[in-house]
Amino acid sequence: MSTHFVPEIAGGVHYVGVRDPDRRMFDALVPLPQGTTYNSYLVKGEEKTALIDTVNPGFEAEFDERISEVSSVDDIDYVIMNHAEPDHATAISYVLGKNSKAKLLVTKRGADAAKLYFGIPEDRIRVITDEETVDLGGKTLRFIVAPMLHWPETMFTYLEEDGVLFSCDFFGLHTAYGFYDDQIPDMIQYAQRYFGEIMMPYKSMGKRALDKIRDLDIKVIAPSHGPIHRNPERIRGVYEKWTAGETIDKVIVVYATMWGSTEKMVKQLAAVLEGRGIDVPLYNLEHADIGEIAKDLVDARGIVLGTPTVVGRMHPLAVYAAHLVSILRPPAKYGVVLTSYGWGKGALSHASDMLGPTGLEVVGALEVNGPPSQDDYSEIRAISQILADKVLSGK
Ligand code: FEO
Repeated sequence: MSTHFVPEIAGGVHYVGVRDPDRRMFDALVPLPQGTTYNSYLVKGEEKTALIDTVNPGFEAEFDERISEVSSVDDIDYVIMNHAEPDHATAISYVLGKNSKAKLLVTKRGADAAKLYFGIPEDRIRVITDEETVDLGGKTLRFIVAPMLHWPETMFTYLEEDGVLFSCDFFGLHTAYGFYDDQIPDMIQYAQRYFGEIMMPYKSMGKRALDKIRDLDIKVIAPSHGPIHRNPERIRGVYEKWTAGETIDKVIVVYATMWGSTEKMVKQLAAVLEGRGIDVPLYNLEHADIGEIAKDLVDARGIVLGTPTVVGRMHPLAVYAAHLVSILRPPAKYGVVLTSYGWGKGALSHASDMLGPTGLEVVGALEVNGPPSQDDYSEIRAISQILADKVLSGK
């Protein structure tokens, strides 16, 4: 009896992945307001069958049922692991446990990861080299080693006859809704959020990966999260910009506030910037969605951090935000720090310590005692104009 619909995204290529609309966090770091998917694809040639990536822990039974709609786990000859993170690779053990003939095809680093994380025995693993191909019978899979997207072992698999690129995390986005890219009105927004959360620290490796696939005739991009891109130029176009670190006239403002002084300061700054035509997304860290902050960090040219002083240091939420900026490595060039305190300073020097290693050019900073005075507002407006000049210089 058929219980699952497993769409054919190209001749002999079936989607056998699963949807997880209820998941709300990833890596205890990334909020998932619309859940996610764990995409997997079964490619059937005239002689051999390959399974490309698998699914998250807990979905093995449903995964097996989906594969059984068009084939059987027993008929798989190759399991291809484009990436070893458990959301895609956990069910490899399930498949290889049920099927004693299938080989796991991985990069050299992938072999190490498969043994370490999933205990896959050496004799079940075949290490591929860059640009190596496997013939399934009328279906040729080419492996393209593309490391650090966002783990060291990552690669792409390209189905030559049909022009399908299986890219795993790269080009992905977290939503459980919509099967094709053009079915999701906010597709680029979700893709940008995902890029900021996961790929932005590895921009240079992403650029290298794009260069490697530039001359391929790609008709479909089939990632392992979110929709299948049957209009691949859309996502490729924005990835070209994001991996190059292209910024726009945008300043992201993130702040914490306790009794409103810091909020008054950042709002004054935001008003001046907006008056100069600059886009200013403003995030109160008390209830901000970290994924939205990551999204705006992808193309903001400036970053403003606002924080009160708590026991001589920054507010803990501002520490978290500054740490995110440090690890996500956004392309922003200019920064401003606005801080306030009641009876003891400290937040400004703490912020300087944290932002120093990011390479941001801090073009203005102010530490205010109590609510901002008229002189403080004047100084904030002056700092804002300096920041606006820098941002609008386009450099
Ligand atoms: Fe979707 Fe890096 O795992």
